[in-house]
Amino acid sequence: MDSQTANLAGTPNTVSGPGPQAVELSVIVPTYNEAENVPLLIGKLSDVLAGIRWEVIFVDDDSRDGTAGVVRKLAQSAPGSLSGSVRVLQRIGRRGLSSACVEGALASSAPFIAVMDGDLQHDERLLPRMLEALRKDGNEIAVGSRFVPGGDVGEFAANRIKISKMGARLARLVVKQDLSDPMSGFFMLRRDVFERVVRRLSAKGFKILLDIFASAPQPLKVVELPFTFGSRIKGESKLDTMVAWEYAMLLLDKMLGSYVPVRFLMYLGVGTFGLAVHFIVLWFTYKSRALPFAEAQSIATGIAMIFNYWLNNQITYRDQRLKGIRFVYGFFSFAVICSIGALSNIGVASYLFAENQSWWLAGIIGVVLGTVWNYAMTSVFTWRVKPVDSKVVSEE
Ligand code: GDD
Ligand code: MN
Repeated sequence: MDSQTANLAGTPNTVSGPGPQAVELSVIVPTYNEAENVPLLIGKLSDVLAGIRWEVIFVDDDSRDGTAGVVRKLAQSAPGSLSGSVRVLQRIGRRGLSSACVEGALASSAPFIAVMDGDLQHDERLLPRMLEALRKDGNEIAVGSRFVPGGDVGEFAANRIKISKMGARLARLVVKQDLSDPMSGFFMLRRDVFERVVRRLSAKGFKILLDIFASAPQPLKVVELPFTFGSRIKGESKLDTMVAWEYAMLLLDKMLGSYVPVRFLMYLGVGTFGLAVHFIVLWFTYKSRALPFAEAQSIATGIAMIFNYWLNNQITYRDQRLKGIRFVYGFFSFAVICSIGALSNIGVASYLFAENQSWWLAGIIGVVLGTVWNYAMTSVFTWRVKPVDSKVVSEE
C-alpha cells in the first residue's frame, strides 16, 4: 500500500482540517495553442512556489498545436516532487477563456485559487505575494494590476492602452467598487469567495475577473498588487474584434440579463435598423422612382430581410457567424422562417381586428408575435446553438 492509500484507508468519514499533503494553491491556466510556453511556465512555477503545496491545472480547449499532450507528457515525466501537481483539463468542441477558468477552478479543491495566462505575460513572482496577502486581514481576492503605482502595461501599443482604459471605464457600469484594473486576467481568490459567486457568473468572453466582481453580492475585500505585463515571446495573442463583442455581451448580460436575454435585445436592435432600411428603400422606390406601391413594398421587404440577416449574422450571432456556403443556406432558412412569421402576424392581427379590437392593438400583437416567432425559430434553425460543433463555435 503506498502512502496515499494508507492515508485514505486510515481517514475516518469525518475529515477535519487539511491533511499534510493537501494542496493549498491551485493555479488555473487557460490555454489555447500555448504548447511552447507550457514547459517554461511549469518550470517558473516550480521555482517560485517552492515551499508551497501547489498544483497547476491547464484548461485547454483542444488546441491544434497539441498543448494538452505536452502537459500530459510533462506531468508523466516530472520529477517526484512535481508529479501529481501538473494536470490538464481538455475541453473538446468548446472555446472561451472565462468558462475555462471557471471549470478549472471547479476541478480544484484547494483553499486558494489563482488564475493566470499561459503565455508568460503574467509575472509568476507575484503568486507568493498574492497568497501571503490572502492569508491575512480577511482579504478575499488579490489582483495583479498594471495600473497601480509600480505596475506597467509593458510593451502595449498605444491604442491597446486606450482600449484597456475605455474598457475599465465601462466596467464601472457593472462593478460598484473601485478597481484600478478590472480587465486583469491575473488574480488569486479564496475558494469560499469563488463558491459564493460561481452560480451567478456569466462566464462569457475574456473577462473573468470583472465577472467575479460584478457577480459578488457584496463588495469584495481586495488587494491590488502591481506588476509589469510581459511581452509575448512565443505563440500568438487570441485577442481580436471578437473580444470586444464578448465584452459588450458580458456587460449587457450583467446589467439586463436577468430580465431579458441579451441576444434577443440585439435582435430587436438589428430589427429597428431593418425597419429604417425598409422605409428608406420604400421612399426611394415609391416616392422617388414612382413604382407601383405593391412592387415598392416588396422590394423594400426583400432588401430589409437581406439586411437584417446580414447584420444579425455580424452582430447578434457573431460567435456563431455563418460563412461561405453556410451563409447562403442560412439566408434561405431565415427568409422562410420570417415569411411564416409575417403570415402569422397578418393572420392573427386580422383576426383580432375582425373581433372588434382596436386597429393599433391588433397591429402590435401581430408584430410582437411575429418577432418572437422569428427570433425563436432562427435561433434554432438558422444559427444553430450547437456548442459541440467546433466548426461553428470558432475557426479563428
Ligand atoms: N482555454 C482557453 N480557451 N484559453 C484561451 C482561449 C480560449 O478560448 N483564448 C485565449 N486563451 C488563453 C491563452 O492561451 C492565454 O494563455 C490566455 O488565455 C490569454 O490569452 P491571450 O490571447 O494571450 O490574451 P492577451 O494577452 O491578449 O490578454 C491578456 O490581457 C488582458 C488584459 O488586457 C489576458 O491576460 C487577459 O486575461 C487580460 O484580461
Ligand atoms: Mn497574452
